[in-house]
Amino acid sequence: FAFDEASEAEIATILAKYPPERKASGVIPLLYVAQRQMGRLTGSAWVPVAAMDVIAARLEVAPIRVYEVATFYLMFNTKPIGRYHLQACTTTSCWLRGSDDVVAACKKATGIQHFGETSEDGMFTLTEVECLGACANAPILQVDDDYYEDLDGPRTEQLIEALRKGERPAYGPTIDRFNSAPEGGRK
Ligand code: FES
Repeated sequence: FAFDEASEAEIATILAKYPPERKASGVIPLLYVAQRQMGRLTGSAWVPVAAMDVIAARLEVAPIRVYEVATFYLMFNTKPIGRYHLQACTTTSCWLRGSDDVVAACKKATGIQHFGETSEDGMFTLTEVECLGACANAPILQVDDDYYEDLDGPRTEQLIEALRKGERPAYGPTIDRFNSAPEGGRK
């Protein structure tokens, strides 16, 4: 593994934020750079151990200092994943507002049976995640780094079909719930 030119430019910007003797603090952003580069170049956004070793050398820390961070945070994928990473929130707000329908739609549209699996065509990996901090617009499906909000089953299926065709629908709320509230509702 080696960082490419685009990643090196990002790394230079990131490390400029830290005093040289504190550059070890850049471990999380550098792991992100590695993951994004893998996604860009291979279609699977994950962080191989070889990339962690490169980061450890760059930050002048023991490799374990990078491994422990990469394996602690769920946002780092330490195994290859599908082209799109579907991360379904099933915590309380999302569950109350229909995350079961979102999950069922993800499974139906991708053929995935269980969380943690990748579809046979390699296009999608489905993961169950805890609260994404966007409860106001629950239920949420995070696709890679983007939040799709206020989903239901049909809208989730439409989203996945669009992704399969190479389209990238606008992220954010998928309905204008608050502005369509009845008289007296939140505007
Ligand atoms: Fe799903 Fe908070 S419970 S975003």
